[in-house]
Formats: sequence, structure tokens, C-alpha cells
Amino acid sequence: MFDALCFLIIIFFMSNSSGSLYMNIVVDGAVANSFEAFYAFGDSYVDTGNGGYMGPPYGMTWPGHAAGRPCDGRNQVDHFAMLFGLPSPTPFKQMKNNESVGGINFGRSGGGVTYAFGYTPLDTQVDEFEALVQEGVLLQKHLSNSVALVCLAVNDYSAYNSQGSPLGVPELITTVVDGIALNIMRIHQLGIRNIIVADLVLMACMPYITASVGYAHCSHNQTLRNETTQHNLLLERRVNLLNQELAGPSAARIIIVDQTKAFWYLMHEGASKYGFADHPLSPCCTDKEDSRIQLCGNTDSEGRALYKVCTEPSQRVIFDGIHPTDAAWKAAIHLYSSVSGYTRCGPKLNTWISQRQRL
Ligand SMILES: *[C@@H]1O[C@H](CO)[C@@H](O)[C@H](O)[C@H]1NC(C)=O
Ligand SMILES: *[C@@H]1O[C@H](CO)[C@@H](O)[C@H](O)[C@H]1NC(C)=O
Ligand SMILES: *[C@@H]1O[C@H](CO)[C@@H](O)[C@H](O)[C@H]1NC(C)=O
Repeated sequence: MFDALCFLIIIFFMSNSSGSLYMNIVVDGAVANSFEAFYAFGDSYVDTGNGGYMGPPYGMTWPGHAAGRPCDGRNQVDHFAMLFGLPSPTPFKQMKNNESVGGINFGRSGGGVTYAFGYTPLDTQVDEFEALVQEGVLLQKHLSNSVALVCLAVNDYSAYNSQGSPLGVPELITTVVDGIALNIMRIHQLGIRNIIVADLVLMACMPYITASVGYAHCSHNQTLRNETTQHNLLLERRVNLLNQELAGPSAARIIIVDQTKAFWYLMHEGASKYGFADHPLSPCCTDKEDSRIQLCGNTDSEGRALYKVCTEPSQRVIFDGIHPTDAAWKAAIHLYSSVSGYTRCGPKLNTWISQRQRL
């Protein structure tokens, strides 16, 4: 019954769009005829060149030199863009004469909802987007057929955990999730109806946390685990509410991609399926002396590397202390798009894309 209903809805949207039946088939891993452009907001999991220079070994897998991504190659924005059949969106800081290709990436390494470590927060990223809409650089018709990604919050929790704050964990979670929800509302109000939001980074399993146990297992620390679980629960509640409230002719279509679950799977049951079985928890790039401080990319005063790099980044989930590899992002986007159970508040991403209604 439910499947039949979904099917009818898909047919309804397809017959309402000007395209033919053939336009929704999957071509080369991309969902054909998906979105006009892609607008990304977030932290270093999103940044493709706003945060400044990331020296070698970053960029070693692709494009073969440092490319403004704290990753060995392509990050999720590049892989999402491929899924949408678009070029990777122009980093905001690299725009010239208001020109962009494939959309704009506002993501900033280090950014959070709160001021966290002091890098451009989500509010400011959305302000930058808003200014382009108000100046008439980005037009409504274009935006209503575009898609946005919001992926951040780990810096808020990391800053809190390392520096402390007068807030308790529950208040921090409310502040962070409400900040995300408010900015999703702003993005929708500015004209983007299709919005993907990621839940929290799997902090307990990241090398910056697991280094102290030699990357043997994920941390059992209840603070980290509670922050992750509670953040994700509240985010899901807020997104469900927004999907109900932002209804009408230009209704919001907000979906959560479950990055916490996807990365848990890639580091555990799914490790062998995706080629990560030999070192599911160990990073590729570590400091030279194995002293377990995060020095990937650092050099001494004579330019000698203070880090060492594995030979096969494609067999690692995480590249440095926290950033996924190109291969892991590719696997995560495959889980979100093609496998049931890795999204919330909506179907798997390929279905969600096909169900969009062009305006
Ligand atoms: C971008 O477009 C706005 C509105 O047309 C204009 O005021 C502004 O000068 C442009 N910026 C650049 C860098 O071209
Ligand atoms: C768990 O992590 C928090 C935040 O990093 C830290 O303050 C706390 O001391 C840790 N607890 C244990 C038992 O290690
Ligand atoms: C984790 O959450 C549980 C349930 O909400 C709570 O009882 C426990 O005190 C929390 N632990 C920490 C360390 O925050």
C-alpha cells in the first residue's frame, strides 16, 4: 500500500514535469535531470577551497596536488555534485564577477553554529548567500530548482569538549540544533526547497579520539556518545517539524543523511564490502613519530615532513585525525543514495531526487 502510494506520487511528479519518462533514469551514477545547482554550507567536511591552503599530502589521490580540501581527494561536496550530475560548486572565496559554476560552496574549515574555534559560522555563510540573492545575482527560478547541503556541528562539540563552557550538554545541543534549524528556514525562505542536512560526525570513532587506544576501538566515552545521540534525535525532531510547517506551494523538502550511521557501518560491518577491512579505524596520515598528535601536512622549519602517509588511502576510512578519505566519501554517498536506512525524514537519496518537482 505504502509502496503503491509512493509510486503514484512519483508518477504524479513525473507527469507534472516537462521532461519525458527517460529523464529520471540513472546514468553513470548520476541521477539525470536532477537539480540546476548545488549550494553547500558547513565546515571542513564541506570546504573545497574557502579555508585557505592545505599543503601535501592533502590532494594526493585527486587532483594530485593540494586543492583546498582537507582530504586526500574529493570530499562529499564533490561526490554529491557527481550524483546530481553537476560540476563541483565554485568556492565562494574563488568567485569572480559574481560568476559561479554548478552553484556555490560557502563551507569553511573550522566553522560551526556557535563561534566554536573562531571560523566563519553558519549564520555568516547564510548571510553571504542572502546578499547574493538580494543583489539579484541568484534568481528565484534557479534557486527553486536547486539543492542545498548543510553539514556541520562537530566543531561546536569539539570546542566545548576541549575548552569547556558555562552551558551544560543539553543546552549546547539545543543551541546547536536550533541554530541549524533556523538557518535551514532562512535557506528555504531565500528560495531553496530541496535541502539535505547531515547529522553529527561519528566523534567516538575518529582518530583524534581513538589515538589514545592505538585506534583499536571506538571510544566508550558517554559524553561523546550522548552528544551524538541527542544531537541526532533533536535534529530529526526539528526537521520533521520544519517539513510539516514549511508546507504549501513552495514546500520545503528537507532530508537528513545519517552520516553517523554510514561511517559506523564503513568502520564495522561494511568495512570489507567497501575495501576498508584491513585498517577500518586507523588514519592514513599520522605524525612521523607515532606520538599521536595530529600533524598531517605539517613540516619543520626546513620543510621536512613531520607526518607519514599510508600507501593506499583508498583502503582507509579516515585520512587524518578526522577527515574522511575520498574513498570513504564515495562509499557514504553510495549508502545515502542507493541503500535504504541511511537517510531520515525521507526515502533514500536517489528516490528523493527523482521525486523533486520542478517549478
Ligand atoms: C555582483 O553583483 C552586484 C549586483 O549586480 C554588484 O553590485 C556587485 O558589484 C557585483 N560584484 C562583483 C564582484 O562583480
Ligand atoms: C569524556 O570526554 C569528555 C569530553 O572530551 C571529557 O571531558 C571526559 O573527561 C571524558 N570522560 C572520560 C571518562 O574519559
Ligand atoms: C548520558 O545520557 C544519559 C541519558 O540521557 C544520562 O543518564 C547520562 O548521565 C549521560 N551521561 C553523560 C556523561 O552525559
